[in-house]
Amino acid sequence: MQIQKCKKIEFPKIQDARGNLSFIEGGIHVPFDIQRVYYLYDVPGGAERGGHAHKGLHQLIIAMSGSFDVVLDDGLEKKRFHLNRSYYGLYVCPMIWRELDNFSSGSVCMVLASNRYDEGDYYRSYPEFIDAKKIL
Ligand code: TYD
Repeated sequence: MQIQKCKKIEFPKIQDARGNLSFIEGGIHVPFDIQRVYYLYDVPGGAERGGHAHKGLHQLIIAMSGSFDVVLDDGLEKKRFHLNRSYYGLYVCPMIWRELDNFSSGSVCMVLASNRYDEGDYYRSYPEFIDAKKIL
């Protein structure tokens, strides 16, 4: 899977004087069925998260509050995305190394995932990830 498949997706936004509303439906606004939701919060200044790739997991990363950067790497190309709006998500396909940094204070990173948590789906070593990319 290549980095070109990873892109920002804009969600519907219902604007209202009482506050805006956005929604995400699995298989419609994201290209997979949602099996799991997790979120990062209380991230201390200067912290980095991620630093792994997934073998089969599809994910969508949203800055629910505040902002942060996501750096994606398919082994050939690296791309940095800045997320700072809750009506945009970054779709990350399988076999992409990702790192998250530059968290603003009070930011919340929500991730929609295509499968339940499975440690066996991770590459936690970059050289191991690169070796796996070579034989694909
Ligand atoms: P990890 O995915 O390594 O987080 P990050 O890449 O942001 O540093 O997860 C951190 C820990 O949390 C790890 O021990 C696994 C656990 N975890 C779960 O139990 N369930 C989950 O859905 C996730 C995402 C992580």
